[in-house]
Amino acid sequence: MGSEGRTADVVVVGGGVIGMSIAWRAAGRGMRVTLLERDRLGAGTSRVAAGMLGPVAEVEFGPAGRRLLDLGLRSAALWPGFAQELAERAGSEVGLRRTGTLLIARDADEAGELERQLDFRRALGLDVRRLSPSAARELEPALAPALRLALEVPDDHSVDPRPVLAALRRACERAGVLLREQAPAASVEHDGARVQGVRLQDGELLAAGTVVLAAGPWTASLSGLPPGTAVPVRPVKGQIMRLRDPAGPGLAERVLRFEGGYVVPRGDGRYVLGATVEERGLDLGPTAGGVYELLREARELLPGIAELEIEELTVGLRPGTPDNLPAVGPGALDGLIWATGHYRNGILMAPLTAELVLSLLQGGAGPADPLLELCDPARFGEAAAAGAPAAAGAAR
Ligand code: GLY
Repeated sequence: MGSEGRTADVVVVGGGVIGMSIAWRAAGRGMRVTLLERDRLGAGTSRVAAGMLGPVAEVEFGPAGRRLLDLGLRSAALWPGFAQELAERAGSEVGLRRTGTLLIARDADEAGELERQLDFRRALGLDVRRLSPSAARELEPALAPALRLALEVPDDHSVDPRPVLAALRRACERAGVLLREQAPAASVEHDGARVQGVRLQDGELLAAGTVVLAAGPWTASLSGLPPGTAVPVRPVKGQIMRLRDPAGPGLAERVLRFEGGYVVPRGDGRYVLGATVEERGLDLGPTAGGVYELLREARELLPGIAELEIEELTVGLRPGTPDNLPAVGPGALDGLIWATGHYRNGILMAPLTAELVLSLLQGGAGPADPLLELCDPARFGEAAAAGAPAAAGAAR
């Protein structure tokens, strides 16, 4: 490898919440860190995300659901400390709201499903409370009178990803991270056994001892990895709206989740209404049908939503793996670390991912963290070798 380009201990590819959290933490431990972002920092999936910190609401049946729960609970527990430290380092608040979440059923079928979900969560020892319709409406008076049942999840909270991203940028700058925007990475450079750095699309080579791949759905567009070793990451489209109540806050306080969507209050009269889940490749186009479905479902539950002003309609691409669990851990080359595939939970998982990657960067001399085993990137070895499933194609 030549000596062109800047030398770093660590190059992080991807300037979303995951990449910036890792870069901040690594620089805080004295490492020379360069972060590469193909667009503007935080311009991709993280900026679109609603910011639910909802491991209990999200838990699904089956072993993958259990693994995600273990990861999510651990990261949710890290969030208050992470938010506080980030706010102190950046000198700005990050919008963590500890309001809890309501899961809501609107008809008998949904109520039956919610009872099943309640039993499942109780069997896992999770704190979930059954609420009658009147009890739910005491907590959230704007809910439709027709609701059938609700579950309260007191420990599932939310954070506003945009102030988090702004704070991460400042924290990275203050920690000495070299932030390079509009710098799309093209390939991982290596000698067959260990990484040597990253080559940018314009040909520049950045030498580094360690490369962290944290580019979400765009991670799959990097070339240069040994055949069959890339984590298969696919983009999963989500359409999401940002709404504002001209009358100010008060329509809803808690995160509201229901069949087909969610409403996340920001506490100041702004609400996030999401989200579609669409397997449409790199399609970033909003559709009338997507918006209609979101509003229709939400209005049944929260009629007052129809009065809100539309501030923004955005489309994001969630990075999904074949089992929709993250891929965090060492790659097939020495010095290569994956930190991608967080699917619906990138904001939730950022503190834990940064912690796990930091432990690897610091040598990982001790016994492997069991959480790293849960998200081992090597589990996709055979799928990757077979070239499945679809990778995210071109980087832009
Ligand atoms: N985390 C919510 C979503 O992916 O829509």
